[in-house]
Amino acid sequence: MSEFIPVLTKEDIDAQVSHVAQSISIDYKDRELILIGILKGAFIFLSDLIRQLSIPVKVDFMCVSSYGDSTSSSGRIKLSKDVDIDIKNKDVLIVEDIVDTGRTLSHLVEHFHSAGAASVRICTLIDKRERRETDVTVDYACHTVEKGFLVGYGLDYAEFYRNLPEVYHLKL
Ligand code: IMP
Ligand code: MG
Repeated sequence: MSEFIPVLTKEDIDAQVSHVAQSISIDYKDRELILIGILKGAFIFLSDLIRQLSIPVKVDFMCVSSYGDSTSSSGRIKLSKDVDIDIKNKDVLIVEDIVDTGRTLSHLVEHFHSAGAASVRICTLIDKRERRETDVTVDYACHTVEKGFLVGYGLDYAEFYRNLPEVYHLKL
């Protein structure tokens, strides 16, 4: 039997999301910020985050995956949708569900720098530390965990559980 151990309640998520949104609103005041949500995992986090921002922003999405239907990264990054907005000379904030090895994000940071972004930063719901393999800098994180496979609030296991309103540690 799978076990779901609570990690973040609705109240925790609300508090952390508005805290991070406040920092972003201060840091990007008077700049032209483009938030890029990484599908599919970040869609719920991004939609809550943008509603807490007090600055004008543009929003776009990119669809990237590195996982098969397992709980460890395949190491290969598959891009199935690129951004539509021109990001040249713009400040880009990548919005992710979770940073694990950091491979997906170092790839994306590189991608946006090559596309001519003025700056590239990272905002994630969860910063998971134990398996980090790259020196990617996480600029904004709502919550940090050492390890474990998390689901809910956008995070999936084999495409399931994204709809759970809270975040759980899934023990298979
Ligand atoms: P990375 O390239 O290893 O950092 O992998 C990042 C991607 O792997 C995330 O965007 C998630 O889609 C997925 N991932 C990593 N850890 C978890 C987890 O605990 N739960 C759900 N997805 C995860
Ligand atoms: Mg993902």
